[in-house]
Amino acid sequence: MSALLPVLSARIQAAAAAFGTYDPELRSSTKPEFGHYQTNLALRIGNELKQPPREIAARLVEAMQVDDLCHQPSIAGPGFINLTLLPQTLAKAVNEPQTFSSNGRRVVVDYSQPNVAKQMHVGHLRSTVIGDALCNVLAYAGYDVIRQNHVGDWGTQYGMMIEQLLKEGIAAESLDLEGLQHLYERSRKHFDADSNFADKARLRVVALQSGDPETRTMWRHMVDVSLDDFDTVYALLGSNLTRADIVGESAYNDDLPRVVAELEQQGLLTESDGALCAFLPGFLGRDGNPLPVIVRKSDGGFGYSATDLAAVRHRVSTLHADRIVYVVDHRQALHFEMIFTLARIAHWLDVPAEHVSFGTVLGPNGKPFKTREGGTIKLVELLNSAVARADALLAGREGLDRQVTARAVGVGAVKYADLSSDRGNDYVFDLDRMVAMTGNTGPYLQYAHARLTRLLSKASPETTVTQLTEPAEQRLALLLTGFATTVEQVAETLQPHRLCTYLYDVASALSAFYEQCPVLSSEGETRASRIALCAATRKVLQDGLGLLGIEAPDAM
Ligand code: ARG
Repeated sequence: MSALLPVLSARIQAAAAAFGTYDPELRSSTKPEFGHYQTNLALRIGNELKQPPREIAARLVEAMQVDDLCHQPSIAGPGFINLTLLPQTLAKAVNEPQTFSSNGRRVVVDYSQPNVAKQMHVGHLRSTVIGDALCNVLAYAGYDVIRQNHVGDWGTQYGMMIEQLLKEGIAAESLDLEGLQHLYERSRKHFDADSNFADKARLRVVALQSGDPETRTMWRHMVDVSLDDFDTVYALLGSNLTRADIVGESAYNDDLPRVVAELEQQGLLTESDGALCAFLPGFLGRDGNPLPVIVRKSDGGFGYSATDLAAVRHRVSTLHADRIVYVVDHRQALHFEMIFTLARIAHWLDVPAEHVSFGTVLGPNGKPFKTREGGTIKLVELLNSAVARADALLAGREGLDRQVTARAVGVGAVKYADLSSDRGNDYVFDLDRMVAMTGNTGPYLQYAHARLTRLLSKASPETTVTQLTEPAEQRLALLLTGFATTVEQVAETLQPHRLCTYLYDVASALSAFYEQCPVLSSEGETRASRIALCAATRKVLQDGLGLLGIEAPDAM
């Protein structure tokens, strides 16, 4: 599918050259009577030059060389220009394969980032699902993608947990993830209640960070138990993340003293209550006092900010990132703003760094999703219940591997629901809505794909669209030519919901096409052309779902 929008945009820009350099502002038409595309460029130029827009529109149309692609452009209302593609232009665009070549740019994507000794929760679901989709899209759009799973495996809590283990005389090897979680809870209580214990825990963190062998062995065990558990969740989710992508907080340990030294040399650090802090212009707390980035704590330990500074530095200077992306919930917006600001001031960051922020997953009561006891909901349990729903949905269907399909549909439903609304918004985790076969859902798109697959299995393959006479087939074809542009937009804006909306539009145009244009029962060239259009649609749905990280089963 070659993209028509950029080609036409360039033609319009050329026609407007006499007036200056303008963004052609070409958009898909809102109504069929306005043709396929429209632009309000004449209104803008008219406004600027204080001349009647309709006259400008007439001059633009006069100068426009598009007759190889479109019917004669028409002028509507106050000076809109409407363009209607020739059927053969559309057909050619659908038939030409469109791929991206490498753009020579490297993007580092920090996502998933669960914490050791804790279960993955719905917040990590969002980061993992959004991050996977963005990595797929960025790679498709020509980026060289490096995934970084910034696992939370470092910090005060490990000091607490290790001290608790030693005090209770428990062997680290005897604990599974549940055991670790309970240990964490006990050590937390102990830490808050007993300042003596708290001091020991802090010293233990310093021992961990300075490489004390006994401490490191116990810590390593906790990490390994957790990583095994993350792998189970990634496998169920069908995530692309592997062990090789794990570069946890601990990986930057040896860089931390250097980070501090460099900041100190640059005169960016101030001592405040024994801690080393950077105070950045413009960052004030609620009380109006300057907010610090705490680079080294008073006990000598390093925290979350120090690790993130080291990570930025590593990503730019060692990984040679041209763009850095962090998929983390909105509560950390200020943290990243401060890290990016400080890293720029310190000359460690000279490429775009973006916080891909997302909202909270809410329970049925509209509050952050928690168990009745107020605990976090296990991600695995949510996914398993979605798969069970999907399994029920598939009851009685023949010719499919029920287990495999239920997993694809259930997990796909959850992922699609997560991706399809603007990521900045909160959303309610509502399984009924997620697995519904109608509306803007994963199963609806998967079903559209499976139905096409079945239709195509009944005909001999056709690859060339030759006729586009009916409005419904033109509309479908026009949408298909927008696939690459949509992918590019998602790579640019890092908003996967745009791809979801696009695919939903394609599936909706497909059902209008089915209603108005018989495929298998039509004849000759019409039949062949429509089969080719179905095949092109199937490919767009399959590729699009694939980019979102959602399987497209052949039958359901
Ligand atoms: N592990 C952290 C959490 O669960 C998120 C880490 C985000 N990434 C980063 N580079 N700070 O909240």
